[in-house]
Amino acid sequence: DKDGHKHFMAKEIAEQPVAIDRTLHAYLSETDDITLPDELDFTKIDRVTMVACGTGHYACLVGKYWFEQIAKMPVEVDVASEFRYREPPVSDRTLALFASQSGETADTLAALRYMSGKADQIVGLVNVSESSIARESDVILPLYAGPEISVASTKAFTCQLTILLIMALKAAQQRGIPLPEGMPSDLRAIPGLIHQSLMLEEQITASSRGLATARDIIFLGRGQLYPLALEGALKLKELSYIHAEGYASGELKHGPIALIEDTVPVIVLAPRDALFEKTISNMQEVMARGGRVVLITDAEGARIAGEGTSEVITMPQVPNALAPILYAIPAQLVAYHTAIAKGTDVDQPRNLAKSVTVE
Ligand code: M6R
Repeated sequence: DKDGHKHFMAKEIAEQPVAIDRTLHAYLSETDDITLPDELDFTKIDRVTMVACGTGHYACLVGKYWFEQIAKMPVEVDVASEFRYREPPVSDRTLALFASQSGETADTLAALRYMSGKADQIVGLVNVSESSIARESDVILPLYAGPEISVASTKAFTCQLTILLIMALKAAQQRGIPLPEGMPSDLRAIPGLIHQSLMLEEQITASSRGLATARDIIFLGRGQLYPLALEGALKLKELSYIHAEGYASGELKHGPIALIEDTVPVIVLAPRDALFEKTISNMQEVMARGGRVVLITDAEGARIAGEGTSEVITMPQVPNALAPILYAIPAQLVAYHTAIAKGTDVDQPRNLAKSVTVE
């Protein structure tokens, strides 16, 4: 049931405030204590290995920034199809985390089996609680996103991010590291902020018409927004079949800048954070070469850097650590509306399956 929406994807995008509210309800008490299962003990491990495929992999990449910055823990992230064949050495002080919406992705399950008996603990971050990955994990962290039907993952991604952030906060607490200001209570703001971001839909619909005729589109982000550039590009290619690439802004001059011309839109994800100036200077390099820039930032960022861009999408102001969760919304909406403008099959893109149970 699409609940009055044209597509499951539209419904699932719109459901995110409610879905994340459910996730917060499960992992945060009314007095804002983190309520992850007691078995999760970050004092007996010294590193985290995260493995997933597709969008789950990008959620883990954001998780790496959070664990490193907030909990000061080293994190390795890999795609399951590489990890499982690499035969990486594993210390028994490793927490191994497998993120999968379906819980049935063949490569992720095989990677889990490789880690089983080697790592201290196997943690499954899954949406489907009766799945193979859930069954074979020592600790299951359900996403509580609710059923995700659309092939393109949306609410599972933002719920995965929410839990990864909560885990990083818990790890910091257990290891005696002070939490970033406002945490964890700031997490409560996520549903409302997503709701506000969803109001940008009309503007994004209009700008997506311009994107639909492009052959290539580049997404740029830096720091914790870099994985969001990757996710934005993945979503856009799977839904609209337009070739899209996500790059770390700082990598631009190491190759991709050669692609820049006025027919290649560049979407820049740049909240006004500590790395803002650096990303903006990369954006200006694009503009100096005739590139057409869509800047996604907040009001302050728009005031400082909006001039000369072809479009600015102004997001609500968000606490720093929450930016990757919030900036997922415009990335999803851009992909969805570009697909609508192109007339592709949004919920069931060609060649793709919701659950990839073959290698
Ligand atoms: O069910 P999983 O989370 O294990 O699925 C992993 C990927 O197949 C999935 O995220 C895929 O990349 C999506 N179609 C992305 O929107």
